[in-house]
Amino acid sequence: MKTIQTVSEEVFDAGETILDEVMEGLNRTQKTLPSKFFYDERGSRLFETITDLPEYYLTRTEIKIIRKHIDEIVWTLGPAIRLIEPGSGNSRKTRLLLDHIPDICAYIPVEISATFLSSVTAKLSDQYPGLNIIPVADDYTRQLKLPAEKHTECRDVVFFPGSTIGNFTPGQAQSFLAMVAGQVKDNGGLLIGTDLKKDPEILEAAYNDSKGVTAEFNKNLLVRLNRELGTNFNISQFEHRAVYNSEKSRIEMHLVSLVRQKVNIGKSEVSFRKGEYIHTENSYKYSLKKFKTLASPYFNIEKVWTDEHGLFAVQYLVPR
Ligand code: AVI
Repeated sequence: MKTIQTVSEEVFDAGETILDEVMEGLNRTQKTLPSKFFYDERGSRLFETITDLPEYYLTRTEIKIIRKHIDEIVWTLGPAIRLIEPGSGNSRKTRLLLDHIPDICAYIPVEISATFLSSVTAKLSDQYPGLNIIPVADDYTRQLKLPAEKHTECRDVVFFPGSTIGNFTPGQAQSFLAMVAGQVKDNGGLLIGTDLKKDPEILEAAYNDSKGVTAEFNKNLLVRLNRELGTNFNISQFEHRAVYNSEKSRIEMHLVSLVRQKVNIGKSEVSFRKGEYIHTENSYKYSLKKFKTLASPYFNIEKVWTDEHGLFAVQYLVPR
């Protein structure tokens, strides 16, 4: 197994960093918590379960699109690439590419959790013995700082599937796109998965599944804060809610306080009115046109692949 390159400190192990962000979010008029805090070990497992739920069409639709168009996708990416994947998780979708790209220079998974990254890297090294894997443990939402070693004959292609771009606000999404454009500027590109705007009923069902896994995933944020920061959230006094905000074209996940209550956080106390909620996640849904506009300061859209129902799109973007 390769040595993991840790570009920055493991941000989420630093209790103080979390505490600062939590306090800042909970002191706002509209209380918020960053959705990146969902992904501790249990949260990552719950998310994997979500991706297989019947209501959560995103993952299986994206995989279907990639499978169906794999030859054209590989041809579009071109030869001799260094494949970079921010937020690589279990690299499930990457395997579809790795199985079909003949002459890949290197695969660089970038993942916040060093532990998770090292177990995925070990498995990938077994499955793809000749593959040069350079794992990077880092928070890609802050920076995309990659190892300096670069084969000059290779082009950088960033793979960002899953519609994770939708979890950024449009402003954050543009900063991310700007950062990626800087990384792939020499003849590279961005292969990205985007969930498309659709009937709100389909969207709300995807984030309010009948088994309650998404509710557990949302509430796990509070479980995590209780464990890591010693807060005393009474989990049973908060309810999961996911609603489509049509004006902003996004699913919003909330944790609604069922009673009037107070919670200890660090040395402070945070009060909740009955019905007051913490805004925990946005999942923006873009039409192809809106996404093109969002990306246009940095990228041209070269190719778009969608499914027959127009639920999801996989797109290849090249820097302008
Ligand atoms: C990771 N991300 C793209 C998921 C989404 O659909 O926004 C996270 C998620 N939240 C609830 N279910 C899934």
